[in-house]
Amino acid sequence: MRFRSPILLLLFVIFLNVFGYNFEKLPNQPLEQNLAQAQTYQEYNNELIDLLEMVYGEGFLSQGGAQSLDEMFEGIDLNNQKILDLGSGLGMCDIYLAKQFTADIIGIDPQRTLIDQSRKKLKLSNHELKGHVSFELMEDPYSLQQFNDETFDIIFSKESILHVPYENKDQYFKEIYRVLKPGGTIIIMDWMHSGYGYSENTRKMMEMDGLLFQLLTPHQYQETIKNAGFKIMDFVDITYESAQISQHNIDTILLIEDEIIDRFGKDTFRYSLESWYYQKEAFLSRELIAGILKAKKE
Ligand SMILES: C[S@@+](CC[C@H](N)C(=O)[O-])C[C@H]1O[C@@H](n2cnc3c(N)ncnc32)[C@H](O)[C@@H]1O
Repeated sequence: MRFRSPILLLLFVIFLNVFGYNFEKLPNQPLEQNLAQAQTYQEYNNELIDLLEMVYGEGFLSQGGAQSLDEMFEGIDLNNQKILDLGSGLGMCDIYLAKQFTADIIGIDPQRTLIDQSRKKLKLSNHELKGHVSFELMEDPYSLQQFNDETFDIIFSKESILHVPYENKDQYFKEIYRVLKPGGTIIIMDWMHSGYGYSENTRKMMEMDGLLFQLLTPHQYQETIKNAGFKIMDFVDITYESAQISQHNIDTILLIEDEIIDRFGKDTFRYSLESWYYQKEAFLSRELIAGILKAKKE
């Protein structure tokens, strides 16, 4: 097919993207660069934890708070379910769910300080819960060795598997498959990327957080899940919505400017604004993609 005008070509590319074709020429350079750094597990430092909590709301380390959890679990009855939360952070996702459902939820995370903090939050809100919640340190960040086969009805994860190095992702999803009961479901909200490498600003945003981001394209993500044995049930692209949430976060930062400066100083305030602005731009340009994936173990 020939395109005489660049505009026609652009429209064609947009058309294909909208209807789900993928152009996954893998971004060799950035992926390889990332892979080289993948060996070391990086923890969230205390300042970042406090800042994220101020912006995202108490007990949340990811965008969208309770509203995005409602979206993840829309139409799913969690009553009497045994649930695992992978990468539970400060624990509020689990506490929030247990306020509504008689579920038995275990939140796990490889960072001890986060497990300690989530246990404190749990103590304070235990009396409000319908369900049961506990938090456990992951014995190994890339395996679920502490759990028996076929233990959970539902395994979910919110913006955490993005930190699992590429070389561990296959095994990680095999572990998830192993500990899920037959008929069980996984529900994952995560960041992905376009497949064309990172712009300077997105790279800066990732460096500012000092964390390891190992993002897959939506196609690679689904293939990894399928290879572990799962059947994909649904993929919802929430990229545009995520850009709007990033704007909301920018508004929050501006609103609590004095508080941030008092607590962390002017540099952190500037860095925060810049970082969330780059994040919003990356979602708007679809360099970063956010999605909710649901899959089943048949
Ligand atoms: C963006 S935070 C999200 C936390 C929580 N899910 C939330 O929504 O508030 C990412 C979390 O992933 C955790 N994490 C890092 N590596 C992980 C791994 N290999 N497996 C599970 N969680 C991991 C981090 O310690 C952190 O708590």
